[in-house]
Amino acid sequence: MAAPRGEFSSRFGFLMAASGSAVGLGNIWGFPTNAASNGGAAFLFTYLILAFALAYPALMAELIIGRYARANAVTALKTISVGEKTRLAAVTVGFVGIITVSFILSFYAIVSGWMIAFFFDPVARLLGMEGLATWLTTDAAVRNSLFVVVFMVLTVFIISAGVKDGIEKWASRLMPSLIIILLLLIVYVLTLPGALDGLRAYLIPDFSRVADPALLVSAMGQAFFSLSLGVGTMLVYGSYISKRENLPTIGSLVALLDVGIAVLAGMLILPAMYVALNNGVQIYDEAGGLIAGPGLIVSVLPALFETMGSIGVLVAFAFFALMTIASLTSSISMLEVPVAYGVEHHGIDRPKAAIVIGAVITVISLIIVFNFDPLFDLVVTYTTEVSQPLLGFAFCIFVAWIWRRNDILEEIKQGDPDVESGLFWKIWPFYVKYICPVAILVVYFQ
Ligand code: PHE
Repeated sequence: MAAPRGEFSSRFGFLMAASGSAVGLGNIWGFPTNAASNGGAAFLFTYLILAFALAYPALMAELIIGRYARANAVTALKTISVGEKTRLAAVTVGFVGIITVSFILSFYAIVSGWMIAFFFDPVARLLGMEGLATWLTTDAAVRNSLFVVVFMVLTVFIISAGVKDGIEKWASRLMPSLIIILLLLIVYVLTLPGALDGLRAYLIPDFSRVADPALLVSAMGQAFFSLSLGVGTMLVYGSYISKRENLPTIGSLVALLDVGIAVLAGMLILPAMYVALNNGVQIYDEAGGLIAGPGLIVSVLPALFETMGSIGVLVAFAFFALMTIASLTSSISMLEVPVAYGVEHHGIDRPKAAIVIGAVITVISLIIVFNFDPLFDLVVTYTTEVSQPLLGFAFCIFVAWIWRRNDILEEIKQGDPDVESGLFWKIWPFYVKYICPVAILVVYFQ
């Protein structure tokens, strides 16, 4: 069989790895504009409640299963199942999770590749290589393929090194850098003309917007994607947590870090957009909403950086470093899901598993790059809007309806001996049993 399993060596290491998984492209290009367009601080407030009421219980379900079973998603779900039928269901859910997360990585790598290309653009400009700079920032299949490969090589490199020397080591370096870059950028952007209008647009609450059910549903979907739920990522990271750790506490720290960094990102993105507006850059789309998603990152912000003169080169460099870090700490958590399975179930050694699985996912990415229009949106929709919620639902069912309640309690008690008398044990079992599955189905059928 395979080598002994890895373990995070410290609480800090786990927190950096798990929050690194959670904080990704979505926090930066989706959350801020969504908040600004949908009630500002009122949205933030609602999002915080949803994240803690619905996404946190599902996160805990994954962390607890993982740490109990100390295994990859397939084996872990099998371990907590009783009877033939549920075991079959466990294997199915585990596999669908592995396939889903691999497809998520295949589109994520494309977008992350753009971030690396834009990261090199200011360097090329500084060196006076205008032709190269234009090539780097022009959307084309050749450029996209090249940077998909670069990004996947980085991801495979980190995962090959294992839990402690790969994931933990790099997340512990990259996440603090991300926070520092983010704070520096916020401070700088807030000094520019127009920035305060952005802050106002972001933060002034409008409670009339947040009662909209469609908005609640989309906010919940966002919270699930943002906390990397449903596909076994948090389960696998949970399987590397020491038995001494207090799970409810570290789970809530991960959720807080994720939401906290999303909120901070808004204090950069919205002011930056209004500075851009002030400098004559278009920030609204045809429907009159704020431009979000890829358009925000690869056209609005670069246009802003260009109006800033020479300091703009530095700002662009820092910003795309931030985006690349956010992507990489998420992509490693995605690749770890199939790799852990390959290593533990088939006894393949880790570097080999990482390279082979990474190569397969790279090929899928390249197929998408060369057939972008029919495939990209399709893959995004199926993985994040169909598969992820259904898998999240299945995880809740496994924990609350199939797994023995006593085993769960015993597991949480390691590291948290008084849990039985605390608030967590009073609320959480009820939540994963009834509220989470129903809420997920509601989102799904929307
Ligand atoms: N949470 C990541 C983000 O916000 C995406 C992700 C989804 C990561 C699923 C792992 C698994 O970008």
